[in-house]
Order: sequence, then C-alpha cells, then structure tokens
Amino acid sequence: MSRLNPILAGSAQSTEAYRQAIAQSSEAVAQWLQQPEMYQGKTVAELRERITLDFNPQGLGNQAAIERAVEYFLKDSLAVHHPQCVAHLHCPSLVVSQAAEVLINATNQSMDSWDQSPSATIIEMKLIEWLRTQVGYQPGDAGVFTSGGTQSNLMGLMLARDAFFARQGHSVQQDGLVGNLKKIRVLCSEHAHFSVQKNMALLGLGYQSVTLVKTDRFSRMDLNDLQEKLAQADANGEQILAIVATAGTTDAGAIDPLRAIAELAAERQIWVHVDAAWGGALLLSEKYRDYLDGLELVDSITLDFHKQFFQTISCGAFLLKEARHYELMRYQAAYLNSEFDEAQGVPNLVSKSLQTTRRFDALKLWMGLEALGQKQYAEIIDHGVTLAQEVAQYVSEQPALELVMQPQLASVLFRYRTQQLSDAGDTALALFNQKIGDVLLESGRANVGVTEADGVTCLKLTLLNPTVTLEDIKVLLALVEKTAEQIAA
Ligand SMILES: Cc1ncc(COP(=O)(O)O)c(C=O)c1O
Repeated sequence: MSRLNPILAGSAQSTEAYRQAIAQSSEAVAQWLQQPEMYQGKTVAELRERITLDFNPQGLGNQAAIERAVEYFLKDSLAVHHPQCVAHLHCPSLVVSQAAEVLINATNQSMDSWDQSPSATIIEMKLIEWLRTQVGYQPGDAGVFTSGGTQSNLMGLMLARDAFFARQGHSVQQDGLVGNLKKIRVLCSEHAHFSVQKNMALLGLGYQSVTLVKTDRFSRMDLNDLQEKLAQADANGEQILAIVATAGTTDAGAIDPLRAIAELAAERQIWVHVDAAWGGALLLSEKYRDYLDGLELVDSITLDFHKQFFQTISCGAFLLKEARHYELMRYQAAYLNSEFDEAQGVPNLVSKSLQTTRRFDALKLWMGLEALGQKQYAEIIDHGVTLAQEVAQYVSEQPALELVMQPQLASVLFRYRTQQLSDAGDTALALFNQKIGDVLLESGRANVGVTEADGVTCLKLTLLNPTVTLEDIKVLLALVEKTAEQIAA
C-alpha cells in the first residue's frame, strides 16, 4: 500500500497509509514509555556496531521502516522522562506538544511567507505579542520563533552589532565590518553560555571580542567587576558593543542582576541582550516571577521553550524591544517578502528571522498554554525550583555528600566527598566524581550531570521534570552513594 503511494495527500490510499504509520509509531512509543530502564546502557562502540545503513534498493515500505526505527533508534534512546535522567537542560515534553507535532508535521507549513503558512503566521505573531506583554515590553510584534537559545543569542548579538555600527553611520549589512575590530568588546559573565563566544566568532569579531566579567559566589555577574571592566575598556580605547546578561546560567541557574545591568548600560547607550533560555520560564511562574525583575528594560531577549516550558525540540524565541532595529537586517526577496506585499501589510515572517524555511514551532507553545492554562503551567515550572531547594537541604544533611552551591533555579550542584577522598587531594576528588557520572550512565540507571563550579568538579541534578518527587531524588542519591562505594572498593 504505502509503497505505491508514499506522499501524504488526500487520496483514500494515502490517508489510510498515514493513519497506519502514525498508529504504529505512537503504539511503539507507548510501549517504549513502559520500559523501566532510563537507557539500555550500550556504549558508543556497541551502537556503532549495531546500527548499519544497508538500504534496500527496492525500499522496505513504511511498516518495516518503522519497525527498524523502533529496533535501532527507539529502544536505545535515552528516556528523558525518567526520574533519574537529570543531567541536562533537557526536558520531558508535554503530551499536547506531541499532538502539536502531529499537526505541525502533517501540514508542513513554512513560516517564511504568509502564503505558505496563513493561520500559522497569525498565531505566531499573536504569541509574540503575548510574550512581549509577559515581559513588560510595549505592545508590538517584534520578535520571532527560533530553533533555540543559540540562534536567539545570535540574533541579539547580530542586531546589537549592526546597531552599534549604525550609530557610527555605517551599515554592516551593506558594507561589512570596518574599522579597528580588535577594539570592539562584548561583556558577559564567566558563566554565560558558550554560544556568546561562538556567535561572536560567526559575527566576524572572534572569541577575542568577549570579555568575561567575574561572578559572585552564586555565579551571578559581579556589578563591581562589570564597572571595572567598563572602565578598563575606556582606558584601553575599546568600545562596548553589547552586554549579555544571563537569566539562568546553564549549571547554577544563576540570574544576573538584570535591572542594575540595564541601568548601567543605559547611561552609556550599550545594548543589553538577556539570555533567558532557561530562566525565561519564570515569566509564567507564580512564585518566582520577581527573579526576572528588570527584564523589560533590555534591548533583546532569548527564550527557549524546549527547556523549562516542556516543549519538544526545537522551540525557542527571540524578542526585540524596538521594532525599528529589524530594519538592520532588512532583505526583500521578490519571491517571498516583496515591497509590494509589505506595503499591503502582508506579514512575511522571513523578514524577522535568520532562517528562511522554518517550522511552526509556535503551535506547541500555543497549545500548551491552551491545554494547561497559565496556572497549571506555572505549577509545573515552579515545581522544579522548589524541589531543588528541598533536594539541596537533603544533600546537606548527608555525611558523604557536599552541597557545592545553593540552588537558584531547578538545579542542584553537589559532590561525593568522604574524608578519605579529601585526603587524596583535589584531582583525585574531581576524577572520582567524574567516574560516578560515567559509571551511572554506563549502567543505564541514571544520567547525572558532571560539571565544574568555580573550579570544583561536581555532580549536577537538573530537576526540570514536574513528575519527579523528593522521594525519587532520594532514591537517586542513594544510588550515587552506592555507586561511589562500589568504585572505591
Ligand atoms: C543559558 C543557555 N543559553 C543558551 C543555550 C543554548 O540553547 P539551545 O541549545 O536551545 O541552542 C543554553 C543551552 O543549554 C543555555 O543553557
């Protein structure tokens, strides 16, 4: 059947093939969700050996292709919904996000021009308007959905760069970069996401343009050091293109002092971009919204819905305070967003995006908000932040565990530490904790993060999953201790 009619279309044969393929796939997922293991524990070498691309020239048909995907992909996937899968900012997804994916994928709308995504374009624009009101920006629709935090940070830095040059009467868009580029700086904290460096390299200014501002003992940008770095830049004849503040650093979940940074930058007309990829979830929070105080003052913002908004990958957004800055990336393609179209007010979102063809990921957030309502959404976001505080308290009561930093969002940084290990020295202690993470993943029982906080190698629990309880984490911590004892033996 499906072999004869591979394209999704309105014929009876095609729609029947579609129903079968979706039913077979979703049934396989339902079964996979029952698996008790977090991971089947195969190594890189074992997976390389197991997965082969011996394509059958005649084609297998949909059913067999799905069966093979179940066997070689699904069974050896990481169960991100598992209570012991806590290594990364990698969330389990909303059920309604799965339903949204069915609609997004089957309709295959493309967000670059209105004629390729009529209702989708309007929904995305309305969501951007709504997100702006949550932030406290003026009404408007300047912003766009993106593939995630890295791309949103790129947009913020690119527009900051182009606005910086525009103030000096120069169009980067038309003429490229000019002048003494070695003297241009972006300031961010030493715990800002690495995409700041990567994006500055992409933007032609290199890693060297990034000056790292020191942080306090909670990994938040130190305002005194920021002022110091600004003064040093003046003394060196350097110019500041932007300050990137972070609302939710990747490990500690630290939120930089946004209001103070924005006020300091305003005195000097410096663009402030806030990477709120993680902490942006607090926009919906009932208990912790005030952590984002001052967000409404900044020039641009990164939001990421595939973190603590529980959307499937990918789903992010970029918000721009002043729509006029979109002029800096203006490009009119006759076939997509012609001047004629724009004069008529046709919204072609390619004008706001770095991407051309683009998924309708906004539908997931829209359906999530519709299905859960803001109150329930707030509850599942707040759950992780509150749980992290409870887990931290519990960790600090365990003799063999040491809390490395008080949690700020939904992560807990700690390490296994006995007197014997402390006596063996810092390197031995660091390697030991690294080993605990590795052994747990190899066993398939838990995925616990291993990272560094101020030079201390530690374990990290990222507690996004709203179904996870303190009891689940106690079980996980007991497993950490047991694993440590086995390694020591
Ligand atoms: C603070 C922060 N910003 C940006 C990113 C990059 O986001 P994405 O992976 O969606 O590109 C991450 C990823 O974890 C992050 O933690």
